[in-house]
Amino acid sequence: MTWLITGGAGYIGSHVVKEMAVREPVVVLDDLSTGRAERLADGVPLVVGSVLDRELLDRVLVEHGVTGIVHIAGKKQVAESVERPLHYYRENVDGLRTLLEAAADAGVGRFLFSSSAAVYGMPDVDLVTEETPCKPLSPYGETKLAGEWLVAAAGRAHGMATASLRYFNVAGAGSAELGDDGVFNLVPMVFERLTKKEAPRVFGDDYPTPDGTCVRDYIHVEDVATAHVAAAQRLVDDTSASLTLNIGRGQGVSVSEMVAVIQDVAGLRDLSPVVEARRAGDAARVVAAADRIRLELGWTSRHDVRDMVTSAWAGWLLRHPVDV
Ligand code: WQD
Repeated sequence: MTWLITGGAGYIGSHVVKEMAVREPVVVLDDLSTGRAERLADGVPLVVGSVLDRELLDRVLVEHGVTGIVHIAGKKQVAESVERPLHYYRENVDGLRTLLEAAADAGVGRFLFSSSAAVYGMPDVDLVTEETPCKPLSPYGETKLAGEWLVAAAGRAHGMATASLRYFNVAGAGSAELGDDGVFNLVPMVFERLTKKEAPRVFGDDYPTPDGTCVRDYIHVEDVATAHVAAAQRLVDDTSASLTLNIGRGQGVSVSEMVAVIQDVAGLRDLSPVVEARRAGDAARVVAAADRIRLELGWTSRHDVRDMVTSAWAGWLLRHPVDV
């Protein structure tokens, strides 16, 4: 097998590349809009370009003898997707459709797609199974759900084994260098506040949860990467696979609990969190049922929340040297 990994120079993609490249040949396609070439180890081939570029795709698939694709490239900011839905549909849906067309024409037999818990919207259940109805609340979530449909339909029609992996709240870093550059999620947003000597913000403490703050399922990016390896192996073993899998730990952690771990790890405990208004569109609780992936692939997560925060903090300090 030779795997094309799109978005492989990004935060999640580079962890997947690291995990897959020790097993099989890989080639990365990344437009470097948010990715960085330095995330890739020496010897990992990088093609700089877009999944919307059909000619480039055809060339890469042939030149590298690609037999499987892991499609991670995409736009992923919920708020931005509300402002720029056409851009999100173009990048995430047109890009995927172009890639699937090229894959089908080249006879690529395996296709793994990065999806998101955003497909569920505001699930009214304790644990979200893959059968929980999908009601995305943002254009971002819509593009991921439409993407899953495209992947499954193309797989059925063109004889591709497929899997859509629904990531829950990804955090942490496999090494400081591979940490998340973006400041769009709870962990880096709290790091940013703390390093500016500002109190962390908690968006709402009147949710129907045990401590009133939102509950999420945080998953270490290294665990996300090993889930890809397991899913890719399944697509190799079962050429008619059509999988949809949650990638979570099945454990709920509240914003208050997470902020406490972050302050503990950072050694910045004196700034008491301030409670602000609820953020529009936040669900009280989104926690995965992680049974299907365990039963299907024998995969389970290995890292806890402290591992995530400790590794992410090391990465943050590398990029934001502070006197703490
Ligand atoms: C987590 C909780 C915030 C910052 C989003 C996407 C999802 C996926 C992951 C891409 C919420 C609260 C945050 C802060 C806070 N993205 N918060 N203070 O919204 O669960 O998921 O990112 O695939 O699709 O929807 O993640 O990290 O933004 O927020 O209280 O300073 O932390 O309100 O309850 P979210 P998040």
